[in-house]
Amino acid sequence: MSASAEMPYFIKPSVNLSQEDKREAYEQAVMAIEANLEGEEATILKMATINCILKTYLPYYYWVGFYLVSGPERLSVGPYQGTLGCLHIDFSKGVCGKAARERKTQLVPDTHALAQGTDHIACDPNSRSEIVVPVLDPQGKLLAVFDVDSTLENSFDEVDQQYLEIMLHRVFG
Ligand code: SME
Repeated sequence: MSASAEMPYFIKPSVNLSQEDKREAYEQAVMAIEANLEGEEATILKMATINCILKTYLPYYYWVGFYLVSGPERLSVGPYQGTLGCLHIDFSKGVCGKAARERKTQLVPDTHALAQGTDHIACDPNSRSEIVVPVLDPQGKLLAVFDVDSTLENSFDEVDQQYLEIMLHRVFG
């Protein structure tokens, strides 16, 4: 079962930001993440806190969450905020699977331009653009991928990639 197109009362459509406004929002969000997670070790706690703070500061974050490595070639949903997320994703499927396979950030300006069900998995039909960032542990092993969806096209760019890669490395690497 996947999310319906109708947005539940607690979820709003995305609002895109200019690169300047994005940088300002990320500076605030990263400060809040680092202040709240100082000295924290628990992985799930860190993931849940990152989701909450980023969704608070970035208005185009519609679905935000982590898919954790749960097997040799398998991801399983972890902490997230948003509509119902698919439970398991094989490394051979979707934007998340590609990020896990290649261990490289994936920027998707228009998810509808991808082959549905293979190159993109639409947990929510409202998803229109996406960024997925691999999350490595201190030994450089793939721990999870960090997935963000927007209901608008072109929400994500190199500013998101830069801030997310640095922050996720600082918190989990
Ligand atoms: N769109 C992702 C699947 C996860 S849902 O967006 C939460 C993908 O294609 O891998």
